[in-house]
Amino acid sequence: MQQFLEIDDLDPATLARVIDRAMAYRNDPSGVPRLLAGQGAALLFEKPSARTRSSSEMAIVTLGGHPIYIRDEEVQMDRRESVEDVARTLAGYCALIAARTFEHSTLERMVAAVEIPVINLLSDLAHPCQAIADLITLRSHFGALDGRRVAYVGDGNNVAASLAFACAFTGIDFVLASPEGYELPDDVVDRVRNLGGSVEQFHDPYDAVRDADAIYTDVWTSMGQEQESAIRKVAFTGYCIDETLVGTAPDHVVVMHCLPAHRGEEISESVLEGPRSLVWTQAAFRMDAFRSLVVEMFES
Ligand code: CP
Ligand code: NVA
Repeated sequence: MQQFLEIDDLDPATLARVIDRAMAYRNDPSGVPRLLAGQGAALLFEKPSARTRSSSEMAIVTLGGHPIYIRDEEVQMDRRESVEDVARTLAGYCALIAARTFEHSTLERMVAAVEIPVINLLSDLAHPCQAIADLITLRSHFGALDGRRVAYVGDGNNVAASLAFACAFTGIDFVLASPEGYELPDDVVDRVRNLGGSVEQFHDPYDAVRDADAIYTDVWTSMGQEQESAIRKVAFTGYCIDETLVGTAPDHVVVMHCLPAHRGEEISESVLEGPRSLVWTQAAFRMDAFRSLVVEMFES
């Protein structure tokens, strides 16, 4: 597999295998193959990261490879030289390129420029490595995923889109509650439905969480949208995952957040740190998700 830019670069059976393998590695790290022994992996970031950089770097190390962390300040894509020239250069030393970009098209340009695998570590449109970790988290907590219901309350952004695809491939109903103008893009909804996924969109968070097994949220203002922050704070008023909202969901509901969290905005301190929160498990599973994905990309 040469590209993993969104969950639908996989198919349901492949995604299931990635999840199973990730869980197996977590239970028995001695089974992690040294398939990148003696090889480099370029990890290129146009935006900051706590989880993605550290988890992918450690995943590469456990696969026997050498991660090369590169900030765009250094390579200056499309300023010092083109995206294509940077990608081709890195392909001369590395077995894969994983990148966090502002524009999704930057990843597509990398795919077109090189023959080694290219992995999306978050773009404006998608965050598929996060979605794999989210599914592993749900599997670990609930067991079977089929028939579960995930209610995403917040912005119909990159994290929401990848989660919607991930749910479609695992038989989870995806429900989103967002203010008007912040829904999932129409093309994402169409693609998810064409894959057999169930997507329902509400404006009232209380409608979304009523029958939910998991409530999910993310920041209201994503990286690159900072100039919209004040407008978004107003638009998303009432979309906080707090005790009152969670109290209307089924008793067994869990709460998820990809992090970083803005306590008091999209999620209250007490819910984030409370007994229903799985956020630290999600963060930890990022490494398992990434190394299982890399194995899949090299073995298929
Ligand atoms: N969830 C996530 O991708 O976190 P970082 O932005 O810190 O990598
Ligand atoms: N939607 C957020 C996710 C951060 C992990 C962003 O793109 O900034």
